Amino acid sequence: MPGRTLLFIPGPTNVPDEFLRAMDRAMEDHRGSHFPAFVHGILHDLKSVFGTTAGRAFVFAASGSAMWDAALVNTLDVGDRVLAVRKGQFSTLFADAAVRLGYRVDTIDVEWGEATPPDAVEAALRADTAHGIKAVLMVHNETATGVTSDVAAIRRAIDAAGHPSLLFVDGVSSIASLRFELDAWGVDAAITGSQKGFMLPPGLGLLCLSPKALARVPHATSPRAFFDLRALSASNDTGYFPYTPPLPLLHGLRASLDRILADGMPAIIARHHRHAEAVRAAVAAWGLPLVAARPEIVSDTVTAVRVPEGISSATVMDIAARRYNVALGSGLARLSGKVFRIGHLGAIDDWMIVGGLGAVEMALTDAGVALTLGSGVAAAADILRRTAPPLPSPIA
Ligand SMILES: Cc1ncc(COP(=O)(O)O)c(C=O)c1O
Repeated sequence: MPGRTLLFIPGPTNVPDEFLRAMDRAMEDHRGSHFPAFVHGILHDLKSVFGTTAGRAFVFAASGSAMWDAALVNTLDVGDRVLAVRKGQFSTLFADAAVRLGYRVDTIDVEWGEATPPDAVEAALRADTAHGIKAVLMVHNETATGVTSDVAAIRRAIDAAGHPSLLFVDGVSSIASLRFELDAWGVDAAITGSQKGFMLPPGLGLLCLSPKALARVPHATSPRAFFDLRALSASNDTGYFPYTPPLPLLHGLRASLDRILADGMPAIIARHHRHAEAVRAAVAAWGLPLVAARPEIVSDTVTAVRVPEGISSATVMDIAARRYNVALGSGLARLSGKVFRIGHLGAIDDWMIVGGLGAVEMALTDAGVALTLGSGVAAAADILRRTAPPLPSPIA
């Protein structure tokens, strides 16, 4: 098909051409004397995206899920107990990873479409008078349902219970797109990957630990090899890695950090909000319900949309991809066939939002959903026009 596929999925996201060029390079000596300045610069700048000055950032050749393992095995003892909130496919998988690594996992289950409930977390921790629970596991932005939870409220719930638990937050589809404040929110481990807000190909696992979590690293008794932060910290201190790092992706990360720092997180957060509002306006104009249970918890990076009874979301996605060259996210696990997801994060412009929504409403119509063609696009365009930032002053 001529043109370019629009990735309207919640990751991997569209990679800016300048990042592709930054990664398209000959290999270099990762033990060379030039390398430490490069590595130290990346690890330093990464911290600001996680919202920390006190914490420490790590980069692995891995995907986001691997950082669940890395966070757990570097801070917990064998057989430790954790509390996991399950509210969608990714929070379920995070809890599952802890089970498979041999930890004892207490779960709080909420409806898919709801947020992490601070009151239930507080109650569970109050009941744990012996302080057996060592960490609370939550997903900040549940990509499967398009729901964002209030991380600071969960930290307040832990503190209100007078409980010493660590707080581990999966920010795979929020960090570098939505507000994320490791220090201010009292997060102890934050987890992400390269292929969402960082606008890079998949392949880097990114992890940031608070001083409290870092203090656990030398003592944790969980077995660890590749993910051992003792080895990685020691190498990173000297500006190197204990293994051969994914060099092109590190150059991509450098380009991504340069772009993020130049734009500034407040502008990036505002852009994501504006685009999300436009997408939500389109979905409302089509008359389709969101998976998110309440307007206060809708995600600014991904919108999960229910299709009418009798229509399969897989058909909508297939038509969007093959006829209109737009990739949509599928409904995951129990939402399979019932939901499609629009990813509006990363390197997305206004025209991509409007064009993508045009393709979605054509695909919905082709699949048999009754809607007025153009209604979603008009609703989104109206929001985008009204909220467009002022034009920079004209070139003289
Ligand atoms: C919230 C969340 N956590 C974890 C993951 C898994 O990340 P990865 O596919 O990079 O392993 C994803 C992937 O979409 C996600 O959205």
